[in-house]
Amino acid sequence: MSTTTTELAQPVSATLKLRPAEEMDKKKDEVEPYRYAHLLPHFSQDHYPPLTPFEHVDPGQRALSHSNPRSFLENATLVELTPNLGSEVHGVNLAELSNDARDQLALEVARRGVVVFRDQQDFIDRGPEFYKAWGSHFGRLHIHPTSGHPEGYPEVHLVYRDANSTFNFEYDDSITTTFWHSDVSYELQPPGLTTFFLLAQPTTGGDTLFTSQVSTLKKLSPQFVAFLRTLKALHSGVEQADFSRTGRRGGIVRREPVENVHPVVRRHPVTGEEALYVNRQFTRRIVGLKREESESILKFLFDHIDKSADNQARVKWQPNTVVLWDNRITAHSAVVDYKNSGERRHGARITPQAEKPIGPEELDLSS
Ligand SMILES: [Fe+2]
Repeated sequence: MSTTTTELAQPVSATLKLRPAEEMDKKKDEVEPYRYAHLLPHFSQDHYPPLTPFEHVDPGQRALSHSNPRSFLENATLVELTPNLGSEVHGVNLAELSNDARDQLALEVARRGVVVFRDQQDFIDRGPEFYKAWGSHFGRLHIHPTSGHPEGYPEVHLVYRDANSTFNFEYDDSITTTFWHSDVSYELQPPGLTTFFLLAQPTTGGDTLFTSQVSTLKKLSPQFVAFLRTLKALHSGVEQADFSRTGRRGGIVRREPVENVHPVVRRHPVTGEEALYVNRQFTRRIVGLKREESESILKFLFDHIDKSADNQARVKWQPNTVVLWDNRITAHSAVVDYKNSGERRHGARITPQAEKPIGPEELDLSS
């Protein structure tokens, strides 16, 4: 078929009459209501008391004595995302895992840092009561002090952006949206095994970046690591709360922010692996050092985390993907590259808290 010169002169957008994604989302909602409307962010005006300490028993510990702690993967197809971080699994229905298999899962995620499970519509569609029961197997469920949650389910932390709004902890005055962190590391007992999935996603973009804080530490010289092992750092939730107090992200602070001091090098309670435990989002200073010393060392460590692509893996979301990571030994960042599309990205996180971070000398692995 021939094409005239006049037709070729038309810009592609004019000939295809591209419609903004925002309009497409709206049109879609008019035709059929949003499938996960009952899980949209709700900002209750509740106020919560401070969190109290509790004893965490790690489910991965139970799997250590199992004769085959990977038997839950027996019928699965498994691909490693990178040599040292991340696996992708097909052929496992997470929603149907027994308690024994969930223990094995915790150990597997502790060893691989991140595990991506595809084809999990059953899991996602079981809804918030199920999400709570699922997460409770792995630890006491964290209730976020500032984020939106489905109405009646404060244990389900939501991230949300569409054409009209964002309820994420996002800065618009930075040259990048890459902001490495370990979730709520300011808590006395920050999270361990964490589950996250998207209910709606943009056509392209909105990937999640992960990095292995075990590998990050291993890149450093033994002399420097020996020094880091002697240090503790302050993690703060104040800035995140202040962000909400300015009216952003739903504008509510339900629990007063806390600051806690954690070892700069922490050990995983089950694998015994050491990981760097500082992050740009929440770590503010190294305790006991002069201000300039603390600033220099943290800047060096944050830059090291930022630029070490050889420690990182990138998860591209497909519908019905559930990703689990161990927040004790990894860091991650959202990638907000889909803003201009106006498309909806709606994610839910189940965030069981784990032990108070264990320093290099504190772990008894004899039992
Ligand atoms: Fe996060």
